[in-house]
Amino acid sequence: MATSLVRRGISRLQTSPAATLLLSRAHASGPQAQQSESAASSSQNLKNFQIYRWNPDNPAKPELRNYQINLKECGPMVLDALIKIKNEIDPSLTFRRSCREGICGSCAMNIDGCNGLACLTKIPSEETTMVTPLPHMFVIKDLVVDMTNFYNQYKSIEPWLKRKSPAPSGWEGKEIPQSKKDRQKLDGMYECILCACCSTSCPSYWWNPESYLGPAALLHANRWIMDSRDEYTQERLDAVNDEFKLYRCHTILNCARACPKGLNPGQQIQNIKSLQT
Ligand code: SF4
Ligand code: SF4
Ligand code: FES
Repeated sequence: MATSLVRRGISRLQTSPAATLLLSRAHASGPQAQQSESAASSSQNLKNFQIYRWNPDNPAKPELRNYQINLKECGPMVLDALIKIKNEIDPSLTFRRSCREGICGSCAMNIDGCNGLACLTKIPSEETTMVTPLPHMFVIKDLVVDMTNFYNQYKSIEPWLKRKSPAPSGWEGKEIPQSKKDRQKLDGMYECILCACCSTSCPSYWWNPESYLGPAALLHANRWIMDSRDEYTQERLDAVNDEFKLYRCHTILNCARACPKGLNPGQQIQNIKSLQT
């Protein structure tokens, strides 16, 4: 293992711009050396990433590990930097990602203290950026958190169309029609990608993650409450009408600030409260 690490280190040194600089320094002198040094530094824009590391197979204390990369050889987003670090420096770095365009929600993490999607967050211009897992979640490894509770809460609001009456004549087995106006009532909710940036930025969710449903699940509860085709509106309202499930929301609106899709879960929660009799 130690040998393979040393080998990797050596091969990086042979190919990196820093190595090129060292080699050119060794073979040049005087003005020639200065010229090659400034050429090398103009091809570099070094940036530090302090990344949370914890490995369940070697359960020592978690640590922030520093990685330095050349931004001139990297894409513009934090996810580009993480992929570069994983590919070129440390293959053991673990994080989730899939679509790299803000659709799958899997690259949610905390970047310099704010929850966001790594693929939609530009690399900050500061010298150092800190990347940690979503706050107040159990860590599986490095930047990967356990989403089980979050998904179970989503499942608990029964996020599917529920009907009591048969489909209108001629529409059996087909989509159930909805007017454009009714469809617009779902705007601001259907766009949610279940990234959990909102719930994990909510102080009420931090303190009651088991009993408070959190902004993401409640936004989806409201999405089905507002759906003109759904016929279980009152049952849905009753199911969340609970001191903990719903009323732990104190309208602090951290959730709206954190949402990378520009949604406002706090407002949707207010709507559920206003519909309770
Ligand atoms: S508005 Fe409600 S859900 Fe949003 S952060 Fe505040 S307490 Fe949490
Ligand atoms: S409301 Fe926004 S922050 Fe919350 S899960 Fe959906 S997309 Fe993510
Ligand atoms: S990789 Fe899919 S949202 Fe970032």
